[in-house]
Amino acid sequence: MAGKLEKILLIGSTGTIGYHILQAFLPKVASFKRVAIFTSQNTVESKKDLIAQVKAAGAEVLVGDLGNEAQVKETFAGFDTIISALGRGALHLQPGLISIAASLTPPKRFFPSEYGTDIRYDPVTSPHEVPHQNKLKVRAHIEALAREGKITYTYVVTGPFADTFFISRLQGLAVGLNIGNATYGIVGPEDPTKQAKISGTTYSDTARYVLSAVQAPAETTKNATLRVESFTAKPSELLKSFETVLGKSLKPIYSSLDELRKLEKAKSEAKDPSVVVYTLNRIWYEGGSDFSRKPVALYLDEKTGEDVEDPEKSKDLFKDVPKRPLEEVIKEIIL
Ligand SMILES: NC(=O)c1ccc[n+]([C@@H]2O[C@H](COP(=O)([O-])OP(=O)(O)OC[C@H]3O[C@@H](n4cnc5c(N)ncnc54)[C@H](OP(=O)(O)O)[C@@H]3O)[C@@H](O)[C@H]2O)c1
Repeated sequence: MAGKLEKILLIGSTGTIGYHILQAFLPKVASFKRVAIFTSQNTVESKKDLIAQVKAAGAEVLVGDLGNEAQVKETFAGFDTIISALGRGALHLQPGLISIAASLTPPKRFFPSEYGTDIRYDPVTSPHEVPHQNKLKVRAHIEALAREGKITYTYVVTGPFADTFFISRLQGLAVGLNIGNATYGIVGPEDPTKQAKISGTTYSDTARYVLSAVQAPAETTKNATLRVESFTAKPSELLKSFETVLGKSLKPIYSSLDELRKLEKAKSEAKDPSVVVYTLNRIWYEGGSDFSRKPVALYLDEKTGEDVEDPEKSKDLFKDVPKRPLEEVIKEIIL
């Protein structure tokens, strides 16, 4: 297994998705040469139990400042794979971190913080969406360096996280499950044949996919966009499966995409940071996260800069990540 030779550095590993990725790596520490997290002094003080868990598992805790170039360079030099799960507030730091990684030899593998919508291809409007701009800048930067052979990258694209997507949390619109009210909110037409499919991934599966990608033969994840999912379903299928799992009927509440767009516009005009959640939900319900029409992997053609399919290269990806029926995925989140 390629993993036995790897030295893995996790950054942003104490955040929402980073925590889960870290939890996937900790039981595997012995199978890697080195596993470490790079975190801030603030986090060391505020998340003492997690830090103790990391150390107890045999991983290292490196404390520093991502804004300190010399320190980051010295740290990155000791690893061959850097996995970023930095939050939206820190995505703008990534081009600088990638430049540092690319200045080191031999070339590092870098997993930028993605874990969301397929920002380049899905749908065609995605490249213009505000929440995607920082990730697009990261992609442009790392791909230019990858074409020069200075770094390699892997994007893990997940669609919405099921853990939050399934549950109603948008103010002003019923979207997803509200257990207390026994309702399920759907944005879009009542006619299932007119509903778009949505692909999404649980936190735990996202972590499994990242671990699997790291352990896969390096060529199969080199300069790759990997689309992963725990489920692909229409909202009406989700509703049915929720009813099966809960053993009771849920009252469907339908809202139109226009209602969601109006709320998104109002949030945007009020400069409310929560607008991002409205934008992403709108993209998902418009069909912007349907991976069923897409290959699991696209690879950078270093000559043309285009992303291309390579079914032979990708055929064995993620065989170690079990596919579960939708009901099992739902059970993990709501029971
Ligand atoms: N698909 C979805 O539904 C969905 C939903 C939410 C997020 N995402 C994506 O998942 C990725 C990670 O997001 P997240 O919500 O898991 O991250 P998060 O919890 O906001 O933060 C992750 C970690 O980043 C580090 N960090 C360092 N400087 C930071 C700064 N200035 N601002 C924020 N974080 C900073 C912190 O770790 P240390 O203190 O250890 O350095 C923090 O715990 C992003 O790319 C985001 O777009 C996807």
